[in-house]
Amino acid sequence: MKLLEDRIRQDGVVLPGNVLKVNQFLNHQIDPQLMYEIGQEFARLFKERPVTKILTVEASGIAPAIMAGLVMNVPVLFARKKKPSTLDDRTYTAEVYSYTKKVTNTISVDSKFLSKNDHVLIIDDFLANGQAVKGMLEICKQADVKVEGVGIVVEKSFQEGAGWIKGQGIRLESLARISSFENDTVHFVGEE
Ligand code: G4P
Ligand code: NA
Ligand code: NA
Repeated sequence: MKLLEDRIRQDGVVLPGNVLKVNQFLNHQIDPQLMYEIGQEFARLFKERPVTKILTVEASGIAPAIMAGLVMNVPVLFARKKKPSTLDDRTYTAEVYSYTKKVTNTISVDSKFLSKNDHVLIIDDFLANGQAVKGMLEICKQADVKVEGVGIVVEKSFQEGAGWIKGQGIRLESLARISSFENDTVHFVGEE
């Protein structure tokens, strides 16, 4: 998505450890117009899929997910990172290990918001090692819903998450695909 790539070039900051800081429009301050265009792009990419619900994880996945939900006219469900006070059989949970932050979060979703006939589109802001997506897929498995695909705003294609998702036979659409941060510059897949 050219608009997004241009914005990453303009406002993204490459940090040590292969981290891209996009606090100017995605992870801290949010650009609603850009998020809306991102939502429209996800809707376009998955338009032939019978999506009934979008699933993301708090916090930064919510902005792009809600715009996709607006355009696709489906509810947006976000997995919570705070442990629910009562863990019972009405809660689906999964462990998500963050390599970046070296912590394990338990993500959870109340089972009443996922039913067997749901067709779920998973959306997140970043895809690195794929731990967050794996956690959401685990929750979808517990809920016995159909996963229609995964939509990602920024994919770091040099990390293992993207290959893993495609290896599972799951449709993956990433709006910006970063091949490297060589010389502290963002390089996108396909550009030379
Ligand atoms: P993974 O889910 O793909 O395995 O990602 P990883 O554990 O490596 O990353 C943990 C957190 O860092 C996730 O956010 C993820 O979205 C984010 N992240 C990963 N790489 C980058 C990057 O290059 N730039 C930025 N800005 N974020 C990155 P989180 O902390 O779990 O969630 P949130 O509260 O920020 O949404
Ligand atoms: Na995230
Ligand atoms: Na994040």
